[in-house]
Amino acid sequence: MRSKKYKSDFLVIGSGIAGLTFAIKASRIGSVNIATKKKDFDSNTNYAQGGIASVLAPEDSFEKHVEDTIKAGAGLGKRAAVELLVRSGPDRIRELVEWGTRFSERTLAGGRRVLDLGREGGHSSNRIVHARDLTGQEVEKALLMKVSSIDNIRVFEDHTAVDLLTEHQLPGRKKGRAVHCYGAYILDNTTGVVGTFNAKMTLLATGGVGQVYLHTTNPEIATGDGIAMAYRAGTLIADMEFIQFHPTALYSPQSSGPSFLISEAVRGEGGILLNTRGERFMDKVHPLKELAPRDIVARAMDFELKRHGESHAYLDISFKRKNFLRKRFPHIFERCREEGIDISKEPIPVVPAAHYLCGGVLSGLSGNTSIENLYVSGESACTGVHGANRLASNSLLEGIVFSHEAYLAAGEHIENFNRKDRIPDFPAWDKGGTFDLEEWVLVQHDIEEVKRLMWDYVGIVRSDKRLQKAHERILSLAEDIHDYYKKSTISSRIVELRNLATVAKLIIKSALSRKDSIGLHYNSDHPLPGGRRVRVVLKSGGQPRLMKPDGII
Ligand code: FAD
Ligand code: SIN
Repeated sequence: MRSKKYKSDFLVIGSGIAGLTFAIKASRIGSVNIATKKKDFDSNTNYAQGGIASVLAPEDSFEKHVEDTIKAGAGLGKRAAVELLVRSGPDRIRELVEWGTRFSERTLAGGRRVLDLGREGGHSSNRIVHARDLTGQEVEKALLMKVSSIDNIRVFEDHTAVDLLTEHQLPGRKKGRAVHCYGAYILDNTTGVVGTFNAKMTLLATGGVGQVYLHTTNPEIATGDGIAMAYRAGTLIADMEFIQFHPTALYSPQSSGPSFLISEAVRGEGGILLNTRGERFMDKVHPLKELAPRDIVARAMDFELKRHGESHAYLDISFKRKNFLRKRFPHIFERCREEGIDISKEPIPVVPAAHYLCGGVLSGLSGNTSIENLYVSGESACTGVHGANRLASNSLLEGIVFSHEAYLAAGEHIENFNRKDRIPDFPAWDKGGTFDLEEWVLVQHDIEEVKRLMWDYVGIVRSDKRLQKAHERILSLAEDIHDYYKKSTISSRIVELRNLATVAKLIIKSALSRKDSIGLHYNSDHPLPGGRRVRVVLKSGGQPRLMKPDGII
């Protein structure tokens, strides 16, 4: 089958909250192609439970949300980005409601209906807008409905972006810096053909990297593709060492696939953590107890499990009425019931799992990156809002806010592009290759090793020795995987394996570059924060560099 060419003003890669909200708005300016590697709803967004943080209560304030965000991020957040995130929040929530999202409400004494605002760790006020414990599903459904009603958006499901179209892809221009992006090579998973998708503005919205760890709450799509593609193209990547581990994934040794999340909102409703002896421990660790920032709770859990050699701890919410739990947490209630746990009668067994990446492709306030025409939003972006640790429920917010900012920049971007730039004639994708079952089995084995390596050596608590070992091993594994990629036929899985190896390398490199402990990065050989507040920035072919928190691109 012959390779096809596609053209649109905007190419959006990914159909989670960041990609869809941008696409809906950008379609007011020009044509939009969305490529998404599985079905349109397959995304981390669809799994989100707790909700979206925003200042909507009269007793809350922007200043409080800004300070909570900066504090959770251990002072490493970029203040200008945090201000934008917080102040734009209420308008973006109203837009989601206008587009059909139905958030949970409650009735005030006078009969007026208002949004029901929940509480999560690190927040000094109730500000979590939610749709029971199925917030992501509700948002994703509304956004997809909206997208389907817009004529100049075309959605390509089962299409995996392989590499960005930059100067590197032009004949005779393999070396040197890429300066512009003109779209991407995208594989049609059904036919196996790679098409050339040209665009004047490309938005990477490919989500997180959870699948690089053995235990993760993230679904299969979270393989860091956008970050790896952008790194290969030469963009700046930052804060990759800051991986958030969620303290409470369901402990379910029999089940495979992503770890089921027990939302922090359960602790927001009063749930307490117990070790297997039935002792509460968070009250000895932090004044906010179970609602301390997530890095502190996850480390306390890790300590507690190791101290007693236990496989799990417990989260107890059984003192609440069954009717309340069923209504507030229908999804969690049901899933636990399937596992034989009645959460209104007994505590839930829980363990930490890799959950969220604070770092990613370094971006400015409009989602702009260090490559022209390339923008990024959502979990694959590093806007700087999270600093060294993300405040709960700030990530869906980040996706809608920075996609909105990218849209605000898009009109002028397209005008400038039409005046000054034009899309070069990129050659059709020409990578050949064969499929060798024997080698495939070996490379699958390699990737399982990468996941275990990351879990054991680059997890909640790190050390110089473990990081060094992980670094040595990842270099050799990544080389094997890269060799296999070069000689094998293209497939979505091999694209993902190559990207997983790349993001693992980026996380390890960044972690090794820090000689301190801050936020989500804890190294037992350097247990204190360093004197200087710095962020680690990576670029392909160069040494890691350090940047001030407010460093701009
Ligand atoms: P995603 O929603 O992950 O979307 C990425 C998209 O890119 C997908 O469509 C994927 O298929 C596509 N894609 C990836 N690679 C490619 C490729 N190569 N080619 C084409 N398409 C590609 N955050 C909150 O703020 N509140 C919460 O309550 C909350 N709960 C969470 C619960 C769980 C279980 C999980 C896993 C996360 C939760 N988060 C929460 C985090 C939040 O869901 C994510 O950070 C956010 O949804 C990311 O949105 P996104 O649009 O950037 O990426
Ligand atoms: C949760 O519901 O605990 C997840 C919230 C988040 O990751 O922000």
